[in-house]
Amino acid sequence: MNIWMGPGLLPAAGLHDELAGCEGLLCLLTDRIDASLIEANPQLRFIASMSVGVDHIDVKAATARGIVVGNTPGVLVETTADASFALLLAAARRLVEADRFVRGGHWRVENAWSPEFFTGKDVAGATLGIVGLGEVGQAVARRAAGFGMKVLAWNRTPRNVPGVEAVELDELLAASDFVSINLALGEETRNLIDERRLALMKRDAVLVNTSRGGIVDEQALADALSHDRLAAAGLDVFEREPVPEDHPLLSLPNVVATPHIGSATEATRIKMADMAALNMLEALRGEPMPHCVNP
Ligand code: DGY
Repeated sequence: MNIWMGPGLLPAAGLHDELAGCEGLLCLLTDRIDASLIEANPQLRFIASMSVGVDHIDVKAATARGIVVGNTPGVLVETTADASFALLLAAARRLVEADRFVRGGHWRVENAWSPEFFTGKDVAGATLGIVGLGEVGQAVARRAAGFGMKVLAWNRTPRNVPGVEAVELDELLAASDFVSINLALGEETRNLIDERRLALMKRDAVLVNTSRGGIVDEQALADALSHDRLAAAGLDVFEREPVPEDHPLLSLPNVVATPHIGSATEATRIKMADMAALNMLEALRGEPMPHCVNP
């Protein structure tokens, strides 16, 4: 058994070397399992990922080779919905900007409370558009109900959820004060929120993304945010992670950025680890994985 203990991410070349001769792999969402890695390992039987998303794995190539792929659904739903709402509130009320202001020593008598001082955007009573009404999207909707928000949602296969109005995606973008992205990244959702769709949003709207960076065109988002065509964004995920320090989004004061911590509570990470380990152990015993994406 080969175990990567860090420090940091396992580089692709290291994964290639460590996997040689292994029948199974327990990996994280930071490990790229592409077709060439799968091809280079004819003995590989299963991949258990400690994540619900499996966009880091070429599932098509794995399935074609008969490799079973497991994930960790369900256990991170509420934690990730909390993170979506935390980003929504932080971006709406400019919390990070205000925190930097205080710590930076700028809160002085000549620069203090005034009627327009750090004014943000009301959440209570506003319209929230949820893009992707899966388990996390529905958990975000439940939180929104507590804030008296009107909730619109778009899902690729329409879903009937009480208290949520199903609408077309373009209509949702045009009508929402807040937009929360809660869907998986795949061929059909890559760049779903592109320049044209961002332009449909209200100028004072806030975009929140805790799912995958590749769903939003980041350059178009940075342009919209820096030209007052969008009020703010709360982003936990980026197309490339770790996000490069000089990324255009990171220079904008109206962006709240976090390092893919949507599911990062101790309890949830333990549940995810247990599920991934169980998937691995069952596969090792030759049994079906309890949570398999390509049965
Ligand atoms: C996942 O499991 O796919 C999440 O992105 C982790 O936060």
